[in-house]
Amino acid sequence: MRLLSVGAMALMCAGTVAFAQNRVGNLLGGAAALKGLNPETVANLQAAHNGESNASANYTAFAKKAGEEGYKSVEALFKAASASEAIHAKFFGEVLKTGGVEPKATLEKPDVKTTAENIKAAIAGETAEFQDIYPKAAEAAVKRGDLTAAKAFKDALAAEAKHARFFTEASANLENWKDAGKSFLLCKTCGYTTSGDDALKACPLCAVDRDDFEVFK
Ligand SMILES: [Fe+2]
Ligand SMILES: [Fe+2]
Repeated sequence: MRLLSVGAMALMCAGTVAFAQNRVGNLLGGAAALKGLNPETVANLQAAHNGESNASANYTAFAKKAGEEGYKSVEALFKAASASEAIHAKFFGEVLKTGGVEPKATLEKPDVKTTAENIKAAIAGETAEFQDIYPKAAEAAVKRGDLTAAKAFKDALAAEAKHARFFTEASANLENWKDAGKSFLLCKTCGYTTSGDDALKACPLCAVDRDDFEVFK
């Protein structure tokens, strides 16, 4: 999935970029350093902003395809996940702006295949994010003292883990996801996503009330 390749490539480059920017920042007192965001954090935030922006666009296209193929509950899940990734993208962008850095995303054309294949691509992207990319980015941000960025990575990670779980459930039993009937709750503040059956009273990440969640079904 493009999300995976873009994110992975960006993060592979991040160390090199961070090293170069560190040197420049040390020499010139670079803007990011002066405003308090470490260059490695900036590179990771930009990669995350780009990855989430593309994931959101992909999932909107995948939702449309799922609807066309008659997978109503998959359509609902992709719509909820798309809205979640858009919130993450915006939040990563806001953290960048607080560091005086303009967020940049390069939107690629979604690579739409069958719904079964689209779900597998989504699982790969989500799993890479919650098992590898965001834990490392959060750890690096903590080390650099960029705690707002670290919280953004950790919150996104928690949502992506839930997305991966739902997509995995759909993939394992796709025919059962043809009917409408499954619903998903999205925290409009932080992007946390959970099943409509979840008895939660407030967001476990940002504490907003359940009434402020959006329902996708
Ligand atoms: Fe996700
Ligand atoms: Fe939340």
